[in-house]
Parts: sequence; C-alpha cells; structure tokens
Amino acid sequence: MKDLYEKFAYDYDEFGAIEEYLGDEKRFFEEVFQQYKVSNVLDCACGTGQHLLMLLQSGFHVAGSDYSKSMIEVAKRNLDGYGYKPKLKQCDFRYLEKVFDETYDAVICLTNSLPHLHSDEDLVTALISMRKRIREGGILVLSSGTTHATLQYPPIEVVVNRQDFSRVFVKEHDEQFQTIHIVDLFHDEHHVESNQYDIKYRLLLDEDYKKLLQEAGYKKINIYGDYSQNPYDKNSMKLIIVAEV
Ligand SMILES: C[S@@+](CC[C@H](N)C(=O)[O-])C[C@H]1O[C@@H](n2cnc3c(N)ncnc32)[C@H](O)[C@@H]1O
Repeated sequence: MKDLYEKFAYDYDEFGAIEEYLGDEKRFFEEVFQQYKVSNVLDCACGTGQHLLMLLQSGFHVAGSDYSKSMIEVAKRNLDGYGYKPKLKQCDFRYLEKVFDETYDAVICLTNSLPHLHSDEDLVTALISMRKRIREGGILVLSSGTTHATLQYPPIEVVVNRQDFSRVFVKEHDEQFQTIHIVDLFHDEHHVESNQYDIKYRLLLDEDYKKLLQEAGYKKINIYGDYSQNPYDKNSMKLIIVAEV
C-alpha cells in the first residue's frame, strides 16, 4: 500500500496548531472519556500527533501509530517539542496486533482516516483489529468531516488562506468514493512552491459505519453530529462515532 502522506506529512500542520482548532474536540473527549472511565488511549492513525498532544495535555496516557513513517517522524518531533515521549509505532491499523499486544480503554481513529480503506473486507478487518486492542467496556472513537450536509457543499474549499500559504481542497465524489485534491501553495517572497496530493476515500456515512461496526462485533454504536454530542442528522457538519466493546 502506498504512503500518500510520505511528503505531505512535512506540510500537514499548515492546517494550524491544535490549540487553534480543537477547542470543542478537547471538551468532547474529556466528557466521553470520563463517562467510560478511560485513562489510556491508542490513536491508531495519529498523523502528526495533534490529538495525542491534546490528550496528553488533558492528562491521559497515550500511544500512537500510523501507516505513514513520515507522519510518525513528524509526530515524534512535534511531541518532543512539548517534552512528551509516548510510544509511537509505524503500523497499518488493519493489523494492530503485529505491534501492540496490550489493550487500551479507548482506541481512536480520527479525521477521515478509516475511509482510506476502500473495500468492506479491509474496513471490517481494521475495525476488528481495533476492537481487539480495546478492553471489555472500552470504546472506539471515529470521526469524519464527510457528512450528508458537507457532500452538498461547493466542491472548492479554501481551507487555509494566509499571506504566505494557501491550502485549497477540490472535492469530487460518486456513490462510493470521494476524492480530495489538496493543493498547497506557498507564496511569499522567499518561498514559492506548489504541491498537490490526491486522496481517495471510501464514502462512509452513518448507516455504513453502523453496518460495518456491527459486522465487526461492536455492541452499542452512538453516532453524533457535533462535539456537543447532538445526534447525527442530515444537517450535521461532523460524523462522530463512539462504539462500545
Ligand atoms: C487525514 S489524516 C488524519 C490524521 C490525524 N488522525 C488527524 O486527525 O490529523 C489520515 C491518516 O490516516 C493514516 N492512515 C491511512 N491508512 C492507514 C492505515 N491503513 N493504517 C494506519 N494509518 C493509516 C494516514 O497515514 C494519515 O496519517
């Protein structure tokens, strides 16, 4: 499997620092983790470590893994910068047992990470692998910005617009897949560069997640449409799942 983030990892955080955009998300995790008595967490698509940092700052014990070696390298660097050294491993989330033998109170897989897998078989394999790393009574948390409502949005979205850097998403989708063409433009007098990354996601909405999670043996599946835990509906801007083991 190709690492789509091999180069992108080093610019990924141009989205902005976690402190700037994760306010609601931090409160959500603190509330949900308190409810399920979560103390240790595995982020199995940790990317540049932004959620690991958020959770460490909230006092949780964390470990992280990601398929992309570059993402792991950037996560290590980011967390080192804050004086944190959690366990970080390169690992495909379909096969977590190859790297982790312990179980966690929660496994998280956030921001459109699971939909990198395209077949039902791979998706169920990944969800089972995650379930096996969660203790009885623990939870899996998934999140995505792809919803019934966001699919209706105009296909071009300027997600970062600074004086020195812009990031534009150009999105297209059919019934089964969504492709996001990410265009990065560096445009100050010292740095002029453009890069494009094309990421193809399996289109997964509430009912798809429910079906896959049931097939993978999860007991109760809660689906929220925002970080205030309002139920998901056709107007939701987020799709957040808390599945119980
Ligand atoms: C859109 S990024 C999200 C990263 C991070 N969770 C965040 O919220 O910023 C998707 C991440 O999923 C990872 N990923 C994709 N397929 C994976 C797989 N099979 N196993 C583990 N990680 C995977 C990518 O390497 C990338 O870091």
